[in-house]
Amino acid sequence: DAASGHRQDLAGLHVLISAGGTREPLDPVRFLGNRSSGKQGVALAEAAARRGASVTLVAAHLEVSEPVGVQLVSVSTALEMERSIRSLAATADVVIMAAAVADYRPSTVQPGKIKKDDVGDTLTLELVKNPDILAGLTAVRRPGQVIIGFAAETESDQAALLALGRTKLARKGCDFLVVNRVGWSQGFATDGNAITVLDRSGAIVTEASGTKMSVANSILDVLGS
Ligand code: CTP
Ligand code: CA
Repeated sequence: DAASGHRQDLAGLHVLISAGGTREPLDPVRFLGNRSSGKQGVALAEAAARRGASVTLVAAHLEVSEPVGVQLVSVSTALEMERSIRSLAATADVVIMAAAVADYRPSTVQPGKIKKDDVGDTLTLELVKNPDILAGLTAVRRPGQVIIGFAAETESDQAALLALGRTKLARKGCDFLVVNRVGWSQGFATDGNAITVLDRSGAIVTEASGTKMSVANSILDVLGS
């Protein structure tokens, strides 16, 4: 819209975005989770909708209010997210995986609450790897479909951060990778963000910092490049 300074440059595109953090249940009252708030993914969804795209947001445990003007699909676990993303990606022109997907889930979910009396002084959890949703998408990419991944890294040295990003980009096979430094007080649940976008060749196409909304618009700008 005019207020955001953007034309309707994404009109006619179906943009699928994941946001938030998955939760992997241990028993009916407990889960393993992560600190993703969903803010950056929600900002991407809002920004894409304002720029004219038809937006579907697959959201896991958002800590911010739901965006307006987008189709919202709520999920909880990584497996649920995988199922939704896989079916919705079949009609998407652009897929952006901004969600923090749990890498592992408890190998068994206890049907009743885990009791200390049954466990003792130490509790060992067995976890199994979750499917890599992003890598699965790039393996079945439609012609012309653009797939964007995120890389959350705690590396503080910028060159080392980008090196990690380039390795991840090659492993995932995505078109663009948004490299995002995260830490105890950085990246998650904050209002601001700082990112570097790499293209398939590993070259830097965008560096942006500011509000998550302005960063979202910078990320969406790569669709026109
Ligand atoms: N991702 C995914 N499915 C998973 C794990 C991650 O689709 N099971 C996606 C994330 O949404 C993100 C990208 O892959 O877009 C990179 O996530 P990240 O956690 O940075 O990388 P991993 O491949 O999981 O590697 P690691 O956590 O060991 O650094
Ligand atoms: Ca991970």
